[in-house]
Amino acid sequence: MAHRSWLHLQARVAGLALPRDLAARDGRAAVDVGWAEQMLPFIEMFTAEGEVVLDPFAGLGTTLVAAAHLGRRALGVELSAARAALATERLRRLGHDALEVCPGDATALPFDDQAAHLVLTNVPYFEGGAARGPGPDDAAQVYALSGYDAYRARMDAVVDEAWRVLPPGGRVVFMAQNVTRHGRLVPQAWDWGAALARRFVLKEERVLVYDRPVPDDGDVWRTNRAHEYALCGEKAPGPARADLDEVWATLAPAGLDPVLIGSWAARLDGGARVPHDIDLLVAPDLDRVRRGLALLDEAGYALFSWGTPIGPAVADEVLRGRHYVRAVRDHVIVDLTYECAALPHAAARPGAAHTGPVVFAAAAQRAVLDEARARERAQSPQ
Ligand SMILES: C[S@@+](CC[C@H](N)C(=O)[O-])C[C@H]1O[C@@H](n2cnc3c(N)ncnc32)[C@H](O)[C@@H]1O
Repeated sequence: MAHRSWLHLQARVAGLALPRDLAARDGRAAVDVGWAEQMLPFIEMFTAEGEVVLDPFAGLGTTLVAAAHLGRRALGVELSAARAALATERLRRLGHDALEVCPGDATALPFDDQAAHLVLTNVPYFEGGAARGPGPDDAAQVYALSGYDAYRARMDAVVDEAWRVLPPGGRVVFMAQNVTRHGRLVPQAWDWGAALARRFVLKEERVLVYDRPVPDDGDVWRTNRAHEYALCGEKAPGPARADLDEVWATLAPAGLDPVLIGSWAARLDGGARVPHDIDLLVAPDLDRVRRGLALLDEAGYALFSWGTPIGPAVADEVLRGRHYVRAVRDHVIVDLTYECAALPHAAARPGAAHTGPVVFAAAAQRAVLDEARARERAQSPQ
């Protein structure tokens, strides 16, 4: 594929196609199953050997087959348990005994944060609820969603999970097509792009083209609809240690007495995960918070409260009950949490550890905070 923006899928690689008997046993007769060949170039471009490729809509395991073929590790989740079992059988036949597709939901992946290097998937298309899933449908089956609003709402939850399982700098490729229904184009590929852009830096689109003849019946709107988009993005690289030190120095005059929590605190405590933001528990004094915001504003940060841009002179009414404000400059995200019932700031400082001037929460404190913050985030649209 190299630098071409399109990939014309023609040649098949021997042994990678879905065996016919497995297709015959599938509840949808494998109509929505892709080609390993469409996955191979993305795996080659975006991962190195031994890295992990994850497919949250794994279907009959095509992405995992392609990843294993290229010497990558692979994780897959598929809602239909019957499909997951067929996919695992397919992998076994190819000798990939350590791989399996797990039954599960793409909006609640059974994997740790930062478990993968690339999330690569072919999304289930909107079928208006007319089609059934490959197994008994349940509320999580995307094919069974009857309204496009419900389908679109599901996108955000899927993208959030894809984001969670990647480290900063990790890559994402979602393959999707716009579809026509009742003579109208439903722009689901573009909506997937918008959903991805909420979380990821959307970098490129590639167009996959297939040969699919169509009868010329004089209908000027008919095409063979034989292309789909591969929407490619990247999780922004997180703040480096130098960024942390700079933020610390920038905020010092505000007297907020910050305690570092979240992913950077875990990193300073020896954790292996790559931090994606700078989380600070600060004094619950709104005047000092505003001073801190003014300093960040001067340093070029954009300020937000629950996704809404704010200025540094933000009123008490805007801040109260919203727990934290966010400052963003390029790849550096700083969250200032000024309300935290689970671990009040005054209680956090005494038990905290130090490295140079940076004060960071100890593991037990972080565990308490992580739980509390998960609850707070559930109420926040950001
Ligand atoms: C386009 S197919 C994927 C096909 C796969 N790329 C392959 O070639 O085998 C989309 C898959 O998503 C699954 N799916 C739908 N809703 C899901 C959900 N909420 N979580 C996980 N999988 C889901 C469907 O059952 C279907 O197998």
